[in-house]
Amino acid sequence: MKKRVTKAIFPVAGLGTRFLPATKSIPKEIMTLVDRPLIQYAIDEARAAGIKEFIFVTSRGKSALEDYFDTAPELESALRKKGKKDLLETLKHTNMDSGAIAYVRQNKPLGLGHAVWCARRLLGNEPFAVILPDDVIAAETSCLAQMVEAHAETGGNMVAAMEVPADKISSYGVLDVKEDMGSVVSVKGMVEKPPRDEAPSNLAVIGRYILTPQVMNNLNEKKSGAGGEIQLTDAIAREIAESDNVYGFRFRGQRFDCGSKAGFLQATVTFGLARDELRDEFSAYLGELVSLQNAAE
Ligand code: UTP
Repeated sequence: MKKRVTKAIFPVAGLGTRFLPATKSIPKEIMTLVDRPLIQYAIDEARAAGIKEFIFVTSRGKSALEDYFDTAPELESALRKKGKKDLLETLKHTNMDSGAIAYVRQNKPLGLGHAVWCARRLLGNEPFAVILPDDVIAAETSCLAQMVEAHAETGGNMVAAMEVPADKISSYGVLDVKEDMGSVVSVKGMVEKPPRDEAPSNLAVIGRYILTPQVMNNLNEKKSGAGGEIQLTDAIAREIAESDNVYGFRFRGQRFDCGSKAGFLQATVTFGLARDELRDEFSAYLGELVSLQNAAE
């Protein structure tokens, strides 16, 4: 029987330079879409996929992120006294059971592959998920839950993939597709940030992965040997050659690149409009804004 995916790594040790000066003192993952930090969206997605152990790869200056998952006794007792049951309920979703969450440190931002490798001692001999919290995915069924279901059929390594327009493809890792089976594709190659005319397909890798322990070994080998850094993509691509077990998964949902300002703003508008309590006022405002702009042109 295939092993269930119950552990997820959240690499959050990056510098977040695209959001300076905010990220000088706030971790990027604590920035909020409407009223929830990015990390909450990632945690909710992972929980919905059956993840039980949450491993954060952190760095200096990320203590706000660690505190976020603790209970807040004074705040909770103040809310209880005021009878604010709904807010207490909201807070519950931020708490983690003792021992469900682990933090490991990446002491230098040497890249995503290195960040994942930092969690190696916390994983057993089982598949694990990697979630990049700055990719936020609005979906009816959690994107990772969709992947876990597909992975139960395929096993191996799976990366979330989405179709990207030709003029954007060179910003992504791109899949060279062996066989297209619909939502799942088998992969014969992966190219990191190819020039537009050399992209093997329009299927780009985004920040959700289910990986085999062998990928961690690949990271490990490179790390323990001589030589520099290894990218996560390289460690996965090696499995194409050695085990032929790498799949892309076309998820159902909308992905926002919240690591970029434009993506973050688009997500803010979309998630704002999705809220019952905000929709009327916010869409009226956006409508006004558009008519003002049209009138000015
Ligand atoms: P990004 O490429 O978005 O880098 O990392 P970044 O540092 O977060 O942001 P910019 O580009 O400077 O604005 C993708 C993911 O990988 C993590 C990041 O925290 C983010 O979740 N990461 C990246 C690490 O954990 N460690 C690293 O060394 C690099």
